[in-house]
Amino acid sequence: MRIVIVFESMFGATEKFARAIADGMAVSAGAEVVNVDDAPIDLTGVDLLVVGGPTHVHGMTRATTRQSAADQVTYPMRSKTGIREWLASLGPLPHGLAVAAFDTRIDKPRVFTGAASLGVAKRLSRLGGRLAAPAESFFVGTEPVDVGPEPGEPARAEAWGAALGAALRRTGS
Ligand SMILES: Cc1cc2nc3c(=O)[nH]c(=O)nc-3n(C[C@H](O)[C@H](O)[C@H](O)COP(=O)(O)O)c2cc1C
Repeated sequence: MRIVIVFESMFGATEKFARAIADGMAVSAGAEVVNVDDAPIDLTGVDLLVVGGPTHVHGMTRATTRQSAADQVTYPMRSKTGIREWLASLGPLPHGLAVAAFDTRIDKPRVFTGAASLGVAKRLSRLGGRLAAPAESFFVGTEPVDVGPEPGEPARAEAWGAALGAALRRTGS
């Protein structure tokens, strides 16, 4: 079973969540966790594709919001490009490919924060992916800007990964 988790991350929180999701999947070969900067375009042979990124201005990042993130710290961003751009570069997904989307965002009602995962899930569906789970958000703190995951959230991501892995095994992929 081949699982690919593509993440975009500025300060590192979304990468941590991507790795927690992979840990939860408990597949013998291990899920591949790939920075969007190095993400493949050809997804032939993949059984499950998980895509996640930070929520910026209610949705997926853009070059301008990534620059704004970079301006707030003194170290380089984990990702240089975005999942918005990567998704736009993909052709139709391999037939029946199971997909799932997640984002990171502030722990406030979604009506105030938005959620990048909704747009990711929509794009993945339009490309022919079969959603294996509803889009999910994992929460980060706000002070300082790069404080990272809220307590308990990596464990929730691990559990989400475990449920996805179990669902994939049940469908026999
Ligand atoms: C430019 C910018 C815009 C942001 N806009 C939102 C937003 O609209 N909603 C939200 O919940 N969080 C927002 N955030 C917080 C990010 O979601 C948070 O920085 C991100 O989840 C951290 O993940 P990372 O460490 O992987 O970059 C914003 C952050 C930045 C830098």
